[in-house]
Amino acid sequence: MLILDRVSKTYGDDTEAVREVSFELQPGEFAVVLGQSGAGKSTLLRCINRLVEPTAGRIALDGEDITGAPPDRLRTLRRRIGMIFQNYNLVGRNSVLTNVLAGRLGYTPPSYALLNHFSPQDVEEAHATLSRLGIADKTHRRADSLSGGQQQRVGIARALMQRPRVILADEPVASLDPATVESILETLLDINRKDGVTILCNLHVPELARRFGRRILGMKAGDLVFDTTPDALEAAQIDVLYDMPVSL
Ligand SMILES: Nc1ncnc2c1ncn2[C@@H]1O[C@H](COP(=O)(O)OP(=O)(O)O)[C@@H](O)[C@H]1O
Ligand SMILES: [Mg+2]
Repeated sequence: MLILDRVSKTYGDDTEAVREVSFELQPGEFAVVLGQSGAGKSTLLRCINRLVEPTAGRIALDGEDITGAPPDRLRTLRRRIGMIFQNYNLVGRNSVLTNVLAGRLGYTPPSYALLNHFSPQDVEEAHATLSRLGIADKTHRRADSLSGGQQQRVGIARALMQRPRVILADEPVASLDPATVESILETLLDINRKDGVTILCNLHVPELARRFGRRILGMKAGDLVFDTTPDALEAAQIDVLYDMPVSL
């Protein structure tokens, strides 16, 4: 459903952040991109929705070319791609409900004018999504008054409002404490299983990748160095990814 064909991104003249990366995701997959800081994970994910413009290669979603899409077509394609960020990317002074409703418009910050145009159905769906994620009691709170885990749930709710085909999660748990890490990744797994949303999730902790990913794509210095399953993942493969010793 998502095809990357020799995707590359070079920043400036010589920072090759992503080098000729190719893979295909099947519908309903939960794949993890694993690698240490600087491996190119964020750049790769952002190339998929063209928050970063790839330097070379092709990307297609459900047979439609993302890389060549003109702006209006890109906007439509992006609605099918939910995005979850390490630092949540909420508008802190806005209510939780407003942040979730903003998902209807995608993940580029909406103007205030647009925010007045939500239908009663949209509002109802936002309430239902907040209930599902266990934060209905926070609906009318300012987003920045919530804990990190709760804010990430708002981020997930906002992504779900897009009714996405695929969710790109860029280190969604890197800013959270261990107990919250579990519950957020469980939530993503639940969405993957129940809603059939394909998930591509960047992580830098091998143990989490092995437990939550159904497929693990290893990145090192811009290269995709392996593409395997958690059961087949070997310690030697992990050693290749990290400059420092890391346990599996
Ligand atoms: N906007 C940018 N401009 C220049 N270099 C960048 C930019 N973003 C990332 N890089 C560089 O690209 C490489 C990959 O970074 P990144 O994609 O953020 O990796 P990761 O998410 O795995 O930590 C790093 O060398 C980083 O310094
Ligand atoms: Mg990153």
